[in-house]
Amino acid sequence: MAYAIASGLVEKNFPCRLFHFDRDSAKYVRFESIGSSSCWKLEELLEACDTVFFAVKPQNFDELLAQMNGFPTGEKLFVSIAAGISTGYLAASLGRGAKIVRAMPNTPLLVSMGATALCANEQVTPQELCYVQQIFSQLGVCEIIEEELMNAIIAVNGSSPAVVYLFVKAFVDGAKEQGIDEQLAFRLFCQSVLGSVEMLQSTGKSPEELIRMVTSPGGTTLAILDSLEQSHFSEAIADSMRACTRRAQEIGK
Ligand SMILES: NC(=O)c1ccc[n+]([C@@H]2O[C@H](COP(=O)([O-])OP(=O)(O)OC[C@H]3O[C@@H](n4cnc5c(N)ncnc54)[C@H](OP(=O)(O)O)[C@@H]3O)[C@@H](O)[C@H]2O)c1
Repeated sequence: MAYAIASGLVEKNFPCRLFHFDRDSAKYVRFESIGSSSCWKLEELLEACDTVFFAVKPQNFDELLAQMNGFPTGEKLFVSIAAGISTGYLAASLGRGAKIVRAMPNTPLLVSMGATALCANEQVTPQELCYVQQIFSQLGVCEIIEEELMNAIIAVNGSSPAVVYLFVKAFVDGAKEQGIDEQLAFRLFCQSVLGSVEMLQSTGKSPEELIRMVTSPGGTTLAILDSLEQSHFSEAIADSMRACTRRAQEIGK
């Protein structure tokens, strides 16, 4: 994720200097190839940067925070992209005055089509939050939300790409079963997903209106929709979203 964010900023010529630190220096080659400077100690990075991104897995946070122990946070802005870790938990370790933004991005950032949700603690000024929003906006859309919704939003943007991939796989598998070439089905279905999303965004019509437009009484579309609802499709999605939020709460701090 860190590389996706950094490379996106470079590609968009966002005015900034980049520095990176990772306990695994094998990762440095990729970052150096986009002009980011290697720091061999965390302290070096903290001294060099005004805005510091934490992009480690939630289970690695405690050791990362322990490495920072005692380092003055000053006027620095900290941005965490870890699922489930609250600004309060980070502030308890970084210091009560620490400026913390919590972000939930997604992997389509890699192709500048990301969707990121942000929130911040009270120490962060509107200008600073706007700056972080500008960063993520280089890589797609970025919305500001209340922190209490940060766990629930993961199903909407952080984890949903995996569901879309599963959806594509299910359609391609279904097409194959009916004798359609896999690659051809993949191309047609992906374009159908893209086109449908474009219809939603460019017409301003609701999903329900667009469903009505493509569904004639007794027709084939009604048959596919009825069959999905008999399998409790909408309910299954809502259940899966609740499971995602519960998991964020479990791993969260
Ligand atoms: N992937 C997604 O779709 C997605 C979406 C939204 C948010 N996120 C969040 O993004 C964060 C990063 O995810 P990722 O998939 O990019 O993780 P990742 O590939 O594991 O990258 C994290 C890097 O940080 C290193 N690291 C771990 N602990 C460290 C420490 N104490 N000091 C220095 N370096 C350390 C890791 O080294 P090792 O490999 O040796 O552990 C690894 O190279 C996670 O918190 C995740 O919740 C991910």
